[in-house]
This record gives sequence, structure tokens and C-alpha cells, in this order.
Amino acid sequence: MALIRRTFIAACASAAVTLTAGHAMAAPKEVKLGYALAVNSHYGAAAKAWADSVEKATNNAFAIKHFPSSALGGERELIEGLQLGTVEAAIVSTGALSNFVSDVGIVDIPFLFRDTQHARAVLDGKFGQDLLAKFQQRGLVALAWGEQGFRHLTNNKVSVQNVADLKGLKIRVTENPVHITAFRTLGAAPTPMSWPEVISALQQGTIDGQENPISVLTSSKLWEVQKHLTLTSHVYAPVVLVLSPSFWGSLTDAQKAAFTEGAKAGAQASRAFVDDVEAKGVEMAKSNGMQVVENVDAAAFRAALEPAYKQYAKKFGQQTLDAIANVK
Ligand code: PAF
Repeated sequence: MALIRRTFIAACASAAVTLTAGHAMAAPKEVKLGYALAVNSHYGAAAKAWADSVEKATNNAFAIKHFPSSALGGERELIEGLQLGTVEAAIVSTGALSNFVSDVGIVDIPFLFRDTQHARAVLDGKFGQDLLAKFQQRGLVALAWGEQGFRHLTNNKVSVQNVADLKGLKIRVTENPVHITAFRTLGAAPTPMSWPEVISALQQGTIDGQENPISVLTSSKLWEVQKHLTLTSHVYAPVVLVLSPSFWGSLTDAQKAAFTEGAKAGAQASRAFVDDVEAKGVEMAKSNGMQVVENVDAAAFRAALEPAYKQYAKKFGQQTLDAIANVK
């Protein structure tokens, strides 16, 4: 009897060791998280906050592996990767997104948002949340709106002080129909190009300039390849924290909640980073030799964009544009 008891206890102990070891050794599931900019950018800040939050909430059931600096390709390839399920997670700008979810183009309309608070209120409110839900129909699971800041113009040719100075300037724009229409209407020669090609195109002079927020200017050290910066603030640039639907489908409800809450933390981290970099980025640009035009006549830019606004109203509906304008 004593022998049977000892054998039983030994068997239980061995089973417990096996179970414990099995649990400890269960490898975390690797999640590829891609984004266009360096780890020390607003994208890197968002990615870290997202990853830390998910890993903590799931007791390290996931290991989020960062692929910064377009390591998985340009934003278009990244979005396609999400749709195909070859990439699990990404942080992407709306630059390429409206080719996949056309309604997103509305947020890319120049001077749509009065200021950062207005943009955040719209995106965090019903309009922005309904827009995120529309990603589902296009094979993407969008969880939160992060931020890059307002876009400004840089170039190597001329100190842009007013709309007329844009005439014929070869400005790289994102592969985004709303942005292309805007720059064409302003008299520039918009050249859509994927971000990974931009720095060498600026170096080689195949384009004269580009437009991006201060967060991108500083993290990509654009002063190394651009002389002039004009603070046009011509359009707010949001980003979206997105998952692949096949990965999403593999998650439990609790894990879905962890990724969703984590994405919100990531979005907040990007906004905090942008608030900070906007306070000091222009001085950084100046001290790195950029010639900066700080005040442009925004009303003149808006007036020059009138023909483009007619097209946007036709595409997105004047009522929707008015509803956005009316958000306090
Ligand atoms: O200009 C772009 O394509 C985007 O703003 C960038 C720099 C890739 C960040 O998403």
C-alpha cells in the first residue's frame, strides 16, 4: 500500500513538473509589426506602447517583433501583407490607405481640420470610429487612430512663401488621389512615390521636394537632403494601427481586447510624441541649416484649392464635410 502511495505521489510530482515546464516553455506567438520609420520616431513610440501593452495583458503569450524603417516594404506592400496574412500588424499612414478603403480619403482633404484638437475629436468620435469599422469590408482590422501631425512642405529649389512659388515644383506626394488632386490644383507637379524611394530621389534631384509632418522631418533627418521648409500645415496626417484579419480571427476574445486596448495606448503614445516633437522640431530644422518660412497665408492656399474642394464634395458629400467642420 505504502509502495502504491509513493508511486502515485511520484507520478503526480512528475506530471506537475511536466505541466509546469510545458507551460513555461510554451513559446510566445510571434507577431510581425511593420512600419515605415525608425524606432526612434512617433511610429516607434506607438509600436513600443502597443507591444508592451499586449505582452503585459496576455502574460507574454505574444512576442511582438518590430520591423521598422520599411523593412517589410512600402506602406502599400505592408497593407497587402495584412490582407494576405503574411504580416500580422502594422502602423500605416493614410497615404496609401485610401487605395484600399476609399472613404478614408476624406481625412486627407487639405485644411479639413482646424487644428490638432479638432482632428483628434473627429477621429475619436463617431465619425472616426465608423470609418475604422469600414476597414473590415476591405480585409483589414483597424483598431485606433494615431498621429503624425500636420504636413508641411520641403524642397531644394525655392523658398516657398505663397501659392505661386509652387508652380512646376516636382513634389513627391503619397500614392493618394486626394493629395495628388490638391498639389495639381495648386500648380505643382505632384509625383506619387513610395516612401522608401524618397530620400534617394531627393538626393538625385529627380524630385524637388516632399511634404510630411515635423515628426517625419526630424526622424528622417530631412535637412540632410532638403534646404527649404515652409510651414504650410496643409493637411493633418493620421495613422492607423491595423491587424490582419486572419491573425485577428485566430485570437480569443480576451486577446482581441488586449490588442485593441494596446492599439489605443499606441495611438496615445504617437500623439504624445508628436506634441513633444512639434514643440522643438522647427528649431532642430533651423539649427541643421534649413531655411524656414514660418508664416504662410493659409486662406490664400484654401482659396487656390477651391476647384479641388468641388471635386472632394462630389466624392465624399458636402453634408459629411460640413458635419466634420461642425465638430467642436
Ligand atoms: O509620406 C509618407 O509616405 C508617410 O507620411 C510616411 C513618411 C511613410 C510615414 O507614414
